[in-house]
Amino acid sequence: MLSKQAVDPAKRRSLHGHWSSRMAFILAVTGSAVGLGNIWKFPYVAGQNGGGAFVLVYLACVLIIGMPVMISEILIGRRGRRNPVATMALLGAEEGKSRHWQWVGGMGVLAGILILSFYSVIGGWTLAYVFKSGMGIFTGADAAAVTAVRDNFIGSWKVLGSFHTLFMGLTIYVVARGVERGLEQAVRFMVPALLVLLVVLLGYSISSGHFGDGLAFMFTPDFSKLTWDSVLAAMGQAFFTLSIGMGAVMAYGAYLPEETSILGSTAAVAIADTSIAILAGLVIFPLVFANGLDPADGPGLVFVTLPLAFGQMPGGVIFSTIFFVLLSFAAWTSAISLMEPAVAWLIEHHNRTRAQAAVMIGLLIWAVGVGTVLSFNALSEFKFLRGTIFDNLDHLTINIMLPLGGVLITFFAGWVMCRNSTADELGSAGALYKFWRFLARFVAPIGILFVFLKAVGLLPDLS
Ligand code: TRP
Repeated sequence: MLSKQAVDPAKRRSLHGHWSSRMAFILAVTGSAVGLGNIWKFPYVAGQNGGGAFVLVYLACVLIIGMPVMISEILIGRRGRRNPVATMALLGAEEGKSRHWQWVGGMGVLAGILILSFYSVIGGWTLAYVFKSGMGIFTGADAAAVTAVRDNFIGSWKVLGSFHTLFMGLTIYVVARGVERGLEQAVRFMVPALLVLLVVLLGYSISSGHFGDGLAFMFTPDFSKLTWDSVLAAMGQAFFTLSIGMGAVMAYGAYLPEETSILGSTAAVAIADTSIAILAGLVIFPLVFANGLDPADGPGLVFVTLPLAFGQMPGGVIFSTIFFVLLSFAAWTSAISLMEPAVAWLIEHHNRTRAQAAVMIGLLIWAVGVGTVLSFNALSEFKFLRGTIFDNLDHLTINIMLPLGGVLITFFAGWVMCRNSTADELGSAGALYKFWRFLARFVAPIGILFVFLKAVGLLPDLS
């Protein structure tokens, strides 16, 4: 067991290198946060959960739960400077508590593997649409035609599986190259470029004639439509989109230079991520209404609305191709962060090289992903609990594992770590620090547990 002052945490170094600058870290976390969650998932879960009220709950969750969790993750990561499993064990011991906190890291590693298994399938779908757009098959197509293209594509496990394989291959490649060479370079231009294209699309969406309907759907809360299940979905979405609750941000925090402000970086990432999600919603919903589509259509929603919009636009082939390239990039930079904790763990615990670890974990994830590939075709009628294999993985990881991880992480930062340690990492004991600590000790853990228990029906209705 480590004595309390065995190592000065400020002198610990990560075995995997460090980000070259504060900006590099912000870009990497933003690259992790901005992904399919913003553009693919947010619009369709908002659509399935009735719009306005869901969006409001989601925003509240980002602010009062998501941000404190992210701050906790980064500070734990930087203090431990190991993979999430080793970091939790190390800090647990160092604070004079238990090494068993490593199981929180372990659950995160597992969650990352499970999430990436389906994330990669959707990432592959995005890649496929780069080619479909480039070939011009959406030009002038109507809703029925675009829907048919989508259904044919996901209906074939061979095609969907091939693109899943391609996407996993790309992810393994970058992770194998390591922190500075691999991860950093991918994000530098992707986020700004994506933002620009979304603004172009917004212009089109405003001109579609149904912008008001889209706006109303997203921002007129109708609380009668809100069930505890949708509140849980909103909270899960907040976790998913910010990449928190499983140690991805913790792993990135381990590579963070000592002098960087954690509070400032978190605010920057949360603002960028939320703006992109809202922007995506403002693009998609007007198009849904303009084309008589159903907002509750599910995971295929953006793969219909956006090609439709591009198909009607002058220069649509080019815009559409660029858009799906950028979305693939966004998915790619997120996928990397889902894999990094597992890979860092394998390197540190089992003495593997980075390349070996990336290939081993990557193959495992690929194999689990086959379950999701088949959920859209051969096994689409094989349903249990929440639906298909994909539906169950999605619910288990996003609505259960991530919030649970979030409770444990904030509890650890707020209650297990002493005041000195956390104040030291956050660089102050001022008002903002106190506010974070209050959120991390009380609001976030209690809030998450409450929503959770409500949604599974374990708390009685008082009204
Ligand atoms: N946030 C990413 C997105 O919105 C997905 C993601 C990357 C993620 N890393 C994560 C989700 C870690 C949960 C945990 O697409």
